[in-house]
Amino acid sequence: MSVSSDRSLQEAAKPPPAPGASSLPDRLAATSAAPPILSVNNIEVVYDHVILVLKGVSLTVPKGQIVALLGANGAGKSTTLKAISNLLSAERGEVTKGSIVFDGEEVHARRGCIQVMEGRHCFAHLSVEENLLTGAFTRGGAGAAVRRDLELVYSYFPRLKERRSATAGYVSGGEQQMCAIGRALMSRPKMILLDEPSMGLAPQLVEEIFKIVGDLNAKEGVSFLLAEQNTRMALKYARYGYVLENGRVVLDGDAKALGENEDVKEFYLGIAEGRRKSFREGKHYRRRKRWLA
Ligand SMILES: Nc1ncnc2c1ncn2[C@@H]1O[C@H](COP(=O)(O)OP(=O)(O)O)[C@@H](O)[C@H]1O
Ligand SMILES: [Mg+2]
Repeated sequence: MSVSSDRSLQEAAKPPPAPGASSLPDRLAATSAAPPILSVNNIEVVYDHVILVLKGVSLTVPKGQIVALLGANGAGKSTTLKAISNLLSAERGEVTKGSIVFDGEEVHARRGCIQVMEGRHCFAHLSVEENLLTGAFTRGGAGAAVRRDLELVYSYFPRLKERRSATAGYVSGGEQQMCAIGRALMSRPKMILLDEPSMGLAPQLVEEIFKIVGDLNAKEGVSFLLAEQNTRMALKYARYGYVLENGRVVLDGDAKALGENEDVKEFYLGIAEGRRKSFREGKHYRRRKRWLA
């Protein structure tokens, strides 16, 4: 008999814990051991049959958590997200190795998982509310339920309620990003893949959007995989993070540990020896890093 089955037998013999009796550390341990909603296992992605972009990427998103996928431009973040949401074929890309399991099933049409693409992608000629309603179509559902979901989205994004009849193409970048996330919510997903929600937005708006994402996670239990170049913001809201470089995960850990990691500080947060580097120094360091790699 193996050690592990021995242990599980002992676990099985234990009486169940009394409700409310678990200590805080116990509960924290329980949440970090939450079953994954998503596991990506050693995937390789090739574009146009020859361009190898992901070279064995593995990551896990536990149920109900926010996980960050960090990395510079071109690292492979969007490719990873598209592999998960099955959007690669539209770009002549293909998963050639590894597996992706969402909510316990290795499936090819991943119901319950929805991607908000980089660059926000609203239907520019439709109103904000019409955009949100398109999100409900994939799910079907009766009018009253859709109405309720719409009100739920508006409760998280009061700005969208104010702008409900504005043409999406003419609302601000931040409102378009909110609209894209709101539309994803309308499909009642278990998980949302968010591709660079901070891109091109003023810091205050980025903060506003991340707060809402944090709220959605806490109150609605939606899991998030958050691809970001904005390392600081992503680590503020995610529980765990992976750093992607050149199609490989080079580092992963708890958000707090990553934020304190010297390499992450130097290369992704622009801080060294406790001071922030200037943009020029940052560029110099990026060059040096490429050279060292
Ligand atoms: N459709 C495509 N065809 C060929 N190469 C692509 C395609 N999309 C992305 N790439 C390449 O894959 C690499 C990773 O891109 P991407 O996943 O968009 O990175 P990120 O989102 O981290 O910026 C880059 O070198 C990019 O040029
Ligand atoms: Mg990208």
